[in-house]
Amino acid sequence: MNELRLGLPDDWHVHLRQGPGLAAYAARTATSCGRMLVMPNTLPPVADGLAVDAYRAQIAAAAPSCQPLMTFKLLPGMGTAAVAGCLAAGCLAGKYYPAGATTNAADGVADPTSIHQELAYMEDNDIVLSIHGENPAAPALERETEFLPVVDRLIHAYPRLRIVLEHLSTASAVAAVLAWPERVAATITAHHLFFCIDDLLGGSLQPGLFCKPPLKSAADRRALVAAAVSGSPRFFFGSDSAPHPVSAKLSSAAPAGCYTAPVALPLLAEVFAAAGALSALEHFTSRAGANFYRLPPNRGELLLTRQAWQVPSEIDGCLPPAAGRQLAWQAVRL
Ligand code: NCD
Ligand code: ZN
Repeated sequence: MNELRLGLPDDWHVHLRQGPGLAAYAARTATSCGRMLVMPNTLPPVADGLAVDAYRAQIAAAAPSCQPLMTFKLLPGMGTAAVAGCLAAGCLAGKYYPAGATTNAADGVADPTSIHQELAYMEDNDIVLSIHGENPAAPALERETEFLPVVDRLIHAYPRLRIVLEHLSTASAVAAVLAWPERVAATITAHHLFFCIDDLLGGSLQPGLFCKPPLKSAADRRALVAAAVSGSPRFFFGSDSAPHPVSAKLSSAAPAGCYTAPVALPLLAEVFAAAGALSALEHFTSRAGANFYRLPPNRGELLLTRQAWQVPSEIDGCLPPAAGRQLAWQAVRL
């Protein structure tokens, strides 16, 4: 197959930042997606109704053809009134960042009991809990697996809460999701499906591939691909596109985050084609997530064509993963 039309995808996990880059980052996601679930780890964080409204307005102005779906950041002590304000402003999910786990997460959650009232309120109001599942105290490559017991306790403590474990990176997380009740789902990124840790540091170090959770083994990657192509309602696409300016990425303290928005759909097409599962791609990019978030599919289509291109070394002032590499597929929004 050299051409494939998909119902227009959604990106269920994207970082758009605030300030000068936002317009370009939002417009970039709009080239392949009809909706995007926008992560709230800006400075200051998106954690009250006014901030949600202001951030949505900036994004909508920059990318009118991609609907921003909003989230708020769970902050210990924020209180249920602030959560109610975020819901009134239309948030679909509250995001749980373990304190210190990733970019702008110093103010995150050190202990889940510190957000008990907020989680109970979310459960009562059927708002999704979105989790960055890493224990920052664990060794770097074990952080996701070591966080799974925390997710397990949350699932049992809040028996009606719907949960998305974000950007899976391990076979153990895939197995955990499948063992949990159906109200628990997960996003998977294009880079965790395409690359493994050897691509990051097996040759020369590739800062464009450094993210949290870090890329893992080839066996982990295979488990993620099996989950993504399975047609399960539990796994759907979230790019975790996380732009950092080239100057920061190439500094002596490179921040975590891959700017995948410009390459995500081509990477996914290549992964699904290699697995002989191109017919399962639409479910992963354009159906399963919408079903989980109880939204209709997008109108519109994305055309994927098998046509090689070389990823530039810089896009929107950022270093894309796969920079300089030939990719087999191109994506055009129809
Ligand atoms: C993200 C970022 O830079 O905001 N970084 C990353 O490595 N994924 C934050 C996140 O989702 O962890
Ligand atoms: Zn995250």
